[in-house]
Amino acid sequence: MRPAWIHCSQNTQILYLIFCLCHYTQAISIQVSRSPITAPVQGSALFSVDITCTGTPEIRWMFSSVSRQQSIAAWMLGCTANVTEMYEGRVQTHPNGSLTITDLRLQDSGYYTITVTEPSGSSKDVCMVLTVTEVLYEDIQYFIVFIIVLGTLAAFLMLCMWLLNKLHNTIKTCRQQRRLPEHSETELQPLGQRRTDPR
Ligand SMILES: *[C@@H]1O[C@H](CO)[C@@H](O)[C@H](O)[C@H]1NC(C)=O
Ligand SMILES: *[C@@H]1O[C@H](CO)[C@@H](O)[C@H](O)[C@H]1NC(C)=O
Repeated sequence: MRPAWIHCSQNTQILYLIFCLCHYTQAISIQVSRSPITAPVQGSALFSVDITCTGTPEIRWMFSSVSRQQSIAAWMLGCTANVTEMYEGRVQTHPNGSLTITDLRLQDSGYYTITVTEPSGSSKDVCMVLTVTEVLYEDIQYFIVFIIVLGTLAAFLMLCMWLLNKLHNTIKTCRQQRRLPEHSETELQPLGQRRTDPR
C-alpha cells in the first residue's frame, strides 16, 4: 500500500511540476473583446484587451493607416503611461492594458496594434480595426428639428398677428358702435349750448 501511495504522490508532484512549467512557459495571451470598432466623430473608442502573461508586461499601442504610422502610448503595467505628444489629452490608459481614445477624428480610422512584452523578452501583438464615421444622420435630424421649430414659430407668429388684427377690428367696431350715440349727444350738445348761449 505504502509504495503505491508514494508512487501516486510522486506522480501528482510530477504532474504539478509539469503544470507549473507549462504555466511558466505559457505564451502571452491577448483577448480582444470586439473588433472592428465603429465610433462617430468626436466620440470615443475603447480598445478593450484581456492580457494573460507572466510577470509585469510592457504595453505598447501603435496606430497605423495607409498614410502614417504612429506610437500612441507605452507603459509598464501598473506604472504611469508614456503618451505620445500627439495623443496627449485624448488617450486614457487602463490598468488592464486597455486604451480609450476620445474626441475621435476621421483620420483616426485605421489599425491599432497592441504589443505585450514580457520581462523575459517574448512578445505578442494583436491588431484591432477602428472605423470613425461621420455624423451625417444626426446633422440631418438637427436640421429637420430646426426647420420644424422655425415653422412652428412662424405659424405661431402668424396666428398671433391674425388674432391681434381681429381683436383690433372688433375693438374698433365696438368703439364706433359706442361712439355713435356719444357723437350724436356731443353734436347735439353744442347745438343746444349755442341755442341757450346768450352770447
Ligand atoms: C479594462 O478596463 C476598462 C476600464 O476599467 C474596462 O472598461 C474594460 O472593460 C476592461 N477590459 C477587460 C477585457 O476587462
Ligand atoms: C517616453 O517618451 C519619451 C519621449 O518621447 C521617450 O524618449 C521614451 O523612450 C519613452 N519611454 C517609453 C517607455 O516608451
